Order: sequence, then C-alpha cells, then structure tokens
Amino acid sequence: MRFDVFTLLPDVFHPYLASSILQRAHQRGLIDVHVHNIRDWTHDRHHVTDDEPYAGGGGMVMKVEPVFEAVESVLGPSTSASTGSARQLKAACPIILLTPQGRVFTQKVAAELSAHPRLALICGRYEGVDERIRAHLATDEISIGDYVLTGGELPAMILIDAVARLIPGVLGDPDGAADDSHASGLLEYPHYTRPPEFRGWRVPEILLSGDHTKIAKWRREQSLLRTLERRPDLLETAELSEKERKFLIEHGYT
Ligand code: ADE
Repeated sequence: MRFDVFTLLPDVFHPYLASSILQRAHQRGLIDVHVHNIRDWTHDRHHVTDDEPYAGGGGMVMKVEPVFEAVESVLGPSTSASTGSARQLKAACPIILLTPQGRVFTQKVAAELSAHPRLALICGRYEGVDERIRAHLATDEISIGDYVLTGGELPAMILIDAVARLIPGVLGDPDGAADDSHASGLLEYPHYTRPPEFRGWRVPEILLSGDHTKIAKWRREQSLLRTLERRPDLLETAELSEKERKFLIEHGYT
C-alpha cells in the first residue's frame, strides 16, 4: 500500500517511519510512504506557503496553489474535483485532509482505508487551509479526535500506523490485529506474560490451565466486562449474542 503525504514538515515523518514496525513493513515491500514537501511547489523567491485571511481574523491560512500543484503533480492532473475523470481517480486514491473538522478516525475508518491500494494525506498547518483545498481537492476529511493540534502531521502518522498494521503481513502474528481493542467493537481482554507471580500478584490460573475453550470464554467475558466498566458507549454498537447481552445485564448493564 502506498501513502503520499503532503506536508510543510517532511522531516518529522522519517524518524518514526524508520524505527518502528513500519520500517520492517517497508523493507518487505508491504508499505511505501512518500513524503512530499509542499514548499517545493511554490514559485516565489521566499517559498511562501501561507497568507493572511481575507477580511481579517487571526492567524495565517495555508495557500491553495502550492497544495493543488503538489497533489496534482504527484497523483496526476485529473485529481481535482472539477474534471470528469476525477471520480475514478478519487475511487482509486482517496485524498484525505487531516483537520479537526473531519469525521472522527476510528478502527472502523482505519479498516475501511486499508482496503485502498493508495492514500494521499494532506497535512494542514497554520490556523487553517484555504477552503478551496477542502472543497475541490480533498475527497475525505479526517480528525483524530476532538482537540486541536498545531498541524496534521501527527494525525497523518497516526492514520498511517493504524492503517498499515491492518495490512496482511505487517504484524508478525497473522491474527495480531483481530483481537485488538476496538477491532470487534469491544475493548481487548487483559494480557499477561512470565513470570506467573510478581510481588505476590498472580497471573489468573485459567491462563495457565491449557484449556483453550475455557480461556477463550474467559477472555471474551473480560473483554465484555472491561468495555462495560470503561467504555459502555461501545456496547450500543458492538455485535453481541443474546447470551452476552444477558451476561452484561447480570453485571449491571442497563
Ligand atoms: N489538525 C489539527 N488538529 C487535528 C486533529 N485533531 N485531527 C486531524 N488534524 C488535525
């Protein structure tokens, strides 16, 4: 899967991409991240990428021309929404603007995006981006949560990480992502590793029992209880059997 990132801070991506599981995924040809500096598509002497907002109001606004030029020169000129073939290209490669005004990024959105062979990510900076980028270039807008960061770079890295680990082969364990918190709509069960006892705190006996049916049942119940305790809102949309609903009601779910 290929990611094309458009940013004014290209250097912040490399240290993380080069020192995580993503580096291994890249070496194995599973992901390919191309980071493009929007400043390379400016034509003035000072390589200006921002300007004052029309009609005033605080802060600076990211200029429209360099962003369009950057994205179009990497993805092809039919990228912009005004052309007929744009829809085809849009379908093949979503152009995602990272913005606190976007739809909220969840595991479900990560799974949806992981089905694409290529994603383009535009990182906003300054107080905002010229509205024409949102209206006529981006095909999707994503927020990583209801808080405001200084730019879209960290959100883009979070998106790449969450999407990449869903690509088959990126995680060492082929089932690695299946049990994750949120993958099933629930929080994940607790994990333990050696030693069996640490400062008097023992690993639950059932995990040492070797009885895989009982362990699977215990894990599912822990997952349900944990979600009930910490994120009861998730239970409204999680896929649950009648038996599981009854179990939750017995434990206080209303
Ligand atoms: N840029 C600034 N804050 C952001 C957020 N919460 N999500 C995505 N992009 C952003």
